Formats: sequence, structure tokens, C-alpha cells
Amino acid sequence: MLDCGSQNGHDLAEKMQSNLQNIVHQVDRVQGRMRELLNFAKPLEPHPSLVDLNSLLREQIETLRSRFGDAGVSCHLRLDEKIPKAHVDPNHLEQAVAGLLSNALEATPRGGSVTVGTAVSAPSGQSRLVNISIEDTGEGIPKENRERVFEPFFTTKPHGTGVGLSLTKKFIERNGGTLSISDGSSGGTRVEVIIPLT
Ligand SMILES: Nc1ncnc2c1ncn2[C@@H]1O[C@H](COP(=O)(O)OP(=O)(O)O)[C@@H](O)[C@H]1O
Ligand SMILES: [Mg+2]
Repeated sequence: MLDCGSQNGHDLAEKMQSNLQNIVHQVDRVQGRMRELLNFAKPLEPHPSLVDLNSLLREQIETLRSRFGDAGVSCHLRLDEKIPKAHVDPNHLEQAVAGLLSNALEATPRGGSVTVGTAVSAPSGQSRLVNISIEDTGEGIPKENRERVFEPFFTTKPHGTGVGLSLTKKFIERNGGTLSISDGSSGGTRVEVIIPLT
């Protein structure tokens, strides 16, 4: 039997809603982890098409919007609307971006922010590149872990899989890109993905 104590109907409804929201977020999180683990065993042959990376980023952020809200972390966009489409496997890029955004969110305390940017550059003698950056104001990655974070199953989280970053790196590299990690400009972590434009 339900013990309602002295709660009135309104309190109870609010409590149920908050519990439900909690369950939905837990399911989202577990689903993300499951997806990572299942992808880990899959072959990684890319099937490229012309992809609008700004739209892809917006969609992935939208998918995580309620988790951002729940965690009290804001998300800022600094997208260059003039970047050309890139020739990549959209599923690979989606998984990579979802993993990076989740990590940024999970590392950032309430009141912090995640900033997602795109830019195009043309280093001399090279073809043009698109740069995607995801910067958070979280705990940062200690220098001694900078290489280890790419090892499969390396995690510092109680419920982590340690699969996200190693998978993300593989996805990006299979699509001709590179992934690098540095310090964020105001503490935290900055992850940069560079995709060549062909
Ligand atoms: N943005 C970040 N800020 C701080 N630490 C991070 C960030 N991204 C990744 N890490 C570190 O790298 C580890 C491995 O990440 P990942 O492979 O995605 O696995 P998981 O998220 O399951 O722990 C994390 O446990 C964390 O220690
Ligand atoms: Mg992760």
C-alpha cells in the first residue's frame, strides 16, 4: 500500500513527476552506455555521405537537452554557418559527438557550461579542414590521464564503461579526421575534432 503521509495531492503529483523524470534520465543514460558497448563490437566500415555538421551537432544537443537541464549545465553554440558539408559517415559522427557531449556534461558541475563550436580553416599546403570544438567548464583531465582516457575500459566514473572516448577516436580516425584533448580556456576540457574537406 502507498504511504501518502500528510502529503496533499499536489505534493504527491510533483513528487511523482520528479521521480518519473529521474527514471527517464536514468534510462537515457543506460541507453547511451548500451549503445557504446554494442557499437564497440561492430565493424567500423564508414559509409560516407555529404553531411551538414552544424545540423548534426544541433540534433545531438537537442537529444541531450533534458539531461543538460536536469544537471543545471548550460550549452552554448558558436557555429560557423558557412562551413561546407563534409564527406563522412553520419552515424559515426553522431555517435562520436554524442559521446563527447555526454562526457562534457558529466564532467561539469551545476552552473557550468559546455560550448560547442565549428570553424573552417585552411592550413598552408593542405586542403580545407572543419574544426569541431567541445569545451566544458568541468573538472578537467589530469595530465597523467591524457593518454589513458583513449584506452578501452579506462574510466574514472562509478558507472562508466570507459568505452566512449576510445570508440569516438576510432570513429573519427576511420573518417579521416583527428581528435585531440587540451585544457579548456577557463579550466575544464577542450576536445577538438578535425575533419578534412575533400
Ligand atoms: N570532458 C571531460 N572532462 C573530464 N574528464 C573526461 C572528459 N571526457 C572524458 N574524461 C575522462 O575520460 C574517461 C573515459 O571517458 P569515456 O571513454 O567516455 O568513458 P566513461 O564516460 O564511460 O567514463 C572518463 O571516465 C573521464 O575520466
Ligand atoms: Mg563517456
